[in-house]
Amino acid sequence: MKKVLELKNREKIIFRHIKKSDVEGVWDNFNEVIEEGIYIPVFYPVRTQLEKESWYHNIKKENEICFIAELPERNPPYNIIGHCEISNSEWDAASHVGLLGIIVKRKYRDLGIGRNLIDIAIKASKHLNHKEKIILSCFSNNERAKHLYKKLGFRIIGIRKNQFYIDSNYYDETLMEIWIDDYLKNKEIEIFLMDI
Ligand SMILES: CC(C)(COP(=O)(O)OP(=O)(O)OC[C@H]1O[C@@H](n2cnc3c(N)ncnc32)[C@H](O)[C@@H]1OP(=O)(O)O)[C@@H](O)C(=O)NCCC(=O)NCCS
Repeated sequence: MKKVLELKNREKIIFRHIKKSDVEGVWDNFNEVIEEGIYIPVFYPVRTQLEKESWYHNIKKENEICFIAELPERNPPYNIIGHCEISNSEWDAASHVGLLGIIVKRKYRDLGIGRNLIDIAIKASKHLNHKEKIILSCFSNNERAKHLYKKLGFRIIGIRKNQFYIDSNYYDETLMEIWIDDYLKNKEIEIFLMDI
């Protein structure tokens, strides 16, 4: 599966499955988000090659979905500007559930890259991995992420109060989910409305 998006400045972005040579770029972006300090509950950047590569090998071993957004004109690791992963549930009885995580490089946010990454990853998780439901969570004060998830049809199903403790402050965690068939139905309505 592959998709191409052209930005207003005519820069082309390719969405495709991850490959081994993307690993460095993905982790550079992840570490950048850790340094921003407000979006994910992780304190320390991932530096070792072993950690980075074992993450990739685990995706392949577990047959999980990971799409990357690439600027094809650039060389690695600067070509990778975002990724969306849908991992398997740890529970045997929840193999129909996928857990979504996403990061878009700071400079490329608010351009629709997150929306496209999630769209292609959700569709692939149904067709390739037989997922039926996608779950995710974010900091409750992550307004951009919540806006995007709600716009795509995710429902808030709960809030874990004071779930995270960072620099002497507590933060809530918002839990969201979507049934893939509902997502696809909404998409059909969206396309139908665009046609009339
Ligand atoms: C959250 C994230 C993945 C979204 O990716 P993105 O490429 O910026 O997403 P999009 O451009 O498709 O959509 C962003 C939407 O949020 C809106 N938005 C931006 N700032 C906002 C704010 N403060 N409040 C509400 N909406 C906001 C944008 O206008 C856009 O909505 P629109 O399409 O209706 O105009 C990306 O911003 C990111 O990586 N953030 C840091 C890491 C993170 O939060 N990861 C998720 C943790 S669960």
